Amino acid sequence: LAACGGSSDSTSAGEEGTASDEIQELTIKFAHVVSENTPKHQGGLAMKEYIEEHSGGKIKVEIYPNSSLFGDQDEYQNLVANNIQFIAPDVTKFVGHNPQFNVPALPFLFDNDEAAIAFWDGEKGKEILNSLESDGVIGLYMWPNGGKHITNNERPLVTPEDFNGLKFRTQGGQVLEELYTTLGAGSESIPFSELYTALDQGVVDGQENTFSNIESKKFDEVQDYMSVMNHTRVDYAIFTNTTFWNSMNDATKEIVQAGVEEGTRVAREESQKLNAAAYEIIKERGETEIIELTPEQIEVFRQVLEPIYEEFESAIGADIIEAARAANE
Ligand code: LMR
Repeated sequence: LAACGGSSDSTSAGEEGTASDEIQELTIKFAHVVSENTPKHQGGLAMKEYIEEHSGGKIKVEIYPNSSLFGDQDEYQNLVANNIQFIAPDVTKFVGHNPQFNVPALPFLFDNDEAAIAFWDGEKGKEILNSLESDGVIGLYMWPNGGKHITNNERPLVTPEDFNGLKFRTQGGQVLEELYTTLGAGSESIPFSELYTALDQGVVDGQENTFSNIESKKFDEVQDYMSVMNHTRVDYAIFTNTTFWNSMNDATKEIVQAGVEEGTRVAREESQKLNAAAYEIIKERGETEIIELTPEQIEVFRQVLEPIYEEFESAIGADIIEAARAANE
């Protein structure tokens, strides 16, 4: 793995043979919004283990899952302020900073995790991950979760017409909003930590997420239907801030960088396994009626949603969309 950003920066403690070869004593905080039994948390644990072990305990990594330290609304500013050193949000939550983070929301774009990984590891993906440097934020590597599916109340969703008049929670972003508008539905961005309650109380009728997020947060308990769509994705990136990143000497940064790479490896390895297992658990729990759409039914959605590409071509970039499509090959 080659680092996306920041790795060529010189370190502040690097003056000729001084402390630059001694591992610094540090506590690193990593905050995220999902449960423990998820690809993101497992990646975080692997990163923690690697860094703590290879630093001989000099570097401590604290992980805060379930929005217990910061959540969707405040993690970015706290990363910028260096109150935390790592976050790994669904990148569509960053569309306010750069509309190119809408890529995973483009309908039926990536065939699978491998394609999404190939895009984010490629030149165009890295450009997007490095686009927040003016805020002091560096996107290091993409961590996949997987394809999203729709859960909802009211009626089973099989055709675009079934969406008419319903309201869905989204992770945010112009593309997801347009997607529901195209289907004749409304949408609202709600923080992940508030989603279960919003579904339970009928603030929204439904939402879209990975099997892993649906299962671990038990959304199926409060949703009558789940349509297996795979129409959009949850793709994360692990972000750090330049204040922290540039404060490390070479010996320290080497361990932290390698720890992030180990976390990336594990998150990428776990995503498909955990989502497949989550799907089985949802099925066994039997709380929600699962609707497996046929390829023909999916094709109808693909065609109805196709105009979104043209609409967002200038905001996202034809070159970006082309590179994303090519990642499927
Ligand atoms: C969501 O907000 O639904 C997800 O993006 C949460 C996550 O981090 O997977």
